[in-house]
Amino acid sequence: MRLRRRTLAGLAGVAAFHRPALAQAPGLRDLARIRGMTFGTAVRSEIMERDPALVALTAREAAIVVGEWEGKWDVLQPERGRFDFEPLRAVIRHAQAANQRIRGHTLLWHVAMPPWLAPALAEGPAQARAVLETHITTVLAETRAAIRDWDVVNEVIAVPPGSDNPDPTDGDLRPTPWLQALGPGYIETALRIARQADPTLRLTLNEFDLYADTRGANTKRQRLLRVVRGLLDRNCPLDAIGIQGHLQMRDPFRPEIFTAFVRSLHELGLAVLITEMDVREPDQLAPTLEARDAAVAEYATRFLQAAIDGGARTFLTWGLTDRDSWLVTDPGVARRDGQTHRGHPYDAELRPKALRAALARLFS
Ligand code: XIL
Repeated sequence: MRLRRRTLAGLAGVAAFHRPALAQAPGLRDLARIRGMTFGTAVRSEIMERDPALVALTAREAAIVVGEWEGKWDVLQPERGRFDFEPLRAVIRHAQAANQRIRGHTLLWHVAMPPWLAPALAEGPAQARAVLETHITTVLAETRAAIRDWDVVNEVIAVPPGSDNPDPTDGDLRPTPWLQALGPGYIETALRIARQADPTLRLTLNEFDLYADTRGANTKRQRLLRVVRGLLDRNCPLDAIGIQGHLQMRDPFRPEIFTAFVRSLHELGLAVLITEMDVREPDQLAPTLEARDAAVAEYATRFLQAAIDGGARTFLTWGLTDRDSWLVTDPGVARRDGQTHRGHPYDAELRPKALRAALARLFS
């Protein structure tokens, strides 16, 4: 009896705590779910640890999260054979407390490599393969209960002429230490290791610069389709394509081109996810914040609607707020005019902007 009373009191407390949230408009996660879609965001565990307001916002808006840096090699295996899962566990803890799904990012990338890795890969193909296998199997053994979708490979398609920082190659694959060490079969190797380690894991190939109506993006789409068809022809396990969606408003966008591309991936039997959407504003900014935010929302809406028309159903932004974004902190992508990009659904004070409203509209 006593126990029961305490339980009821506890429930009443929980209800009272949640009442203000219930009175608010539904979160993006709920709106999206009603339409059979999934909305989520990248998170950074160190910010979640110290910012309850962001934790609450993320819990309300996101049905799925991905660690922005916690699943990368330099964090997970800072020294050869020494794994550190603490940051990724923090992502998982927050996600589970908010009843969110989790994506993993990323088991193979040429960036965020710990200093020991390139020399280890250069020890020869057998060693390189062993290093890759140890990493993937150890990470997947740790995360298999919590993470059911990993970006197995990230940014493996060569950057064509007509893009920023094109690669010096005519080939479809990006010249990286992985390609150099293992040859062009390395993507297949990584995917097969992942399938073997965790047979029901969704295996995703994640890539950037696939959306615009530019010469570079057009070539990149063709390269990706060629690589993916080649993998599937060889019966290589692959379940999904992640289209990052780091949008740049200076780039022309033609919805029909992007929709057709997303459709052609679906026709290959693959799921398509928008994994990292954010928006970089053009050099010439509109005169008011309202006009800038409206322009960001409009550009993103055209992109997202085209993705929906192509059959995509899962959308993650690369962070929820302008405050925490790499678009502010990373010199490679930050503005040089002292302004900060307003490319996220919430501003630096965690106030919703036109993009948040646009997402709600897309999901209603
Ligand atoms: C970025 C993070 O957001 C930054 O904080 C970090 O400094 C560099 O990496 N494509 C990806 C992501 O796949 O992992 C990148 O994330 C952004 C581009």
